[in-house]
Amino acid sequence: MGFFKNLFIKEDRRTDLEKIDPEKIPKHIAIIMDGNGRWAKKRSLPRSAGHKAGVEALREVIKTCSNLNVQYLTLYAFSTENWKRPEEEVSALMNLLVYYLRNEIQELNENNVRINTLGDINKLPNTALIEIEAAQKLTRNNTGLTVNIALNYGGRLEIINAVKSICIKVINKEIEVDQIDERYFSDHLYTKNVPDPDLVIRPSGELRISNFLLWQIAYSEFWFSKIFWPDFNGEYLVEAILDYQGRDRRYGGAK
Ligand code: IPE
Ligand code: IPE
Ligand code: MG
Repeated sequence: MGFFKNLFIKEDRRTDLEKIDPEKIPKHIAIIMDGNGRWAKKRSLPRSAGHKAGVEALREVIKTCSNLNVQYLTLYAFSTENWKRPEEEVSALMNLLVYYLRNEIQELNENNVRINTLGDINKLPNTALIEIEAAQKLTRNNTGLTVNIALNYGGRLEIINAVKSICIKVINKEIEVDQIDERYFSDHLYTKNVPDPDLVIRPSGELRISNFLLWQIAYSEFWFSKIFWPDFNGEYLVEAILDYQGRDRRYGGAK
């Protein structure tokens, strides 16, 4: 069956995959890629080795999402708080981003993947900005999976920026205060035109949101796992999707 083609799932776990209802695939999956440092520590490796291993996991997750016809995948790669880390780690992460985009962009493009970013990216080093721009330009007309990479992203900063730009419009009398509703506000976020995440995945055992998509997750379903991000793979993704498909999303309504 075409639906199962090229999925990175071991033969003995294919039964799980077959349980997935293709009609109820989450449109938008958001992932907090966490646990790289602890994965490395467990192996007495430097934290940068954990980040590198995290990229391998990412490759498989993107392919699996693409093959399952997920429409949006948002990846938390670097938060506004991650600048607090040692300079050496920050620069290893930025170099990894450059390396990743440079090496993967052709294949992503051939697979109809569109690359976008969320966050205040202008604070990133120039080398990273050049690769991001090239990746966005190359893939902008693709119609398959959209991968949003959250870089220098903070949910609170995003909301503050939206408030500021709306205030300016009010001051300039472009809009009336009463015109501001949820839809209007959403259109001033980085995620303009992106539906809210259906499913948020956080590996690594932490049970918190760490300033990720604060506005957008109002009615998202959550899936937590103790697995460190570099050990994450297509099978865990299938597990999360199956769990999601069994949830009853009521949005405040009565059953
Ligand atoms: C996630 O892994 C990667 C980034 C935040 C960039 P961590 O580096 O946070 O790994 P832990 O949480 O220390 O294990
Ligand atoms: C969240 O992980 C940010 C990313 C995965 C990019 P952190 O490791 O920064 O979050 P905390 O510090 O555990 O909350
Ligand atoms: Mg962490």
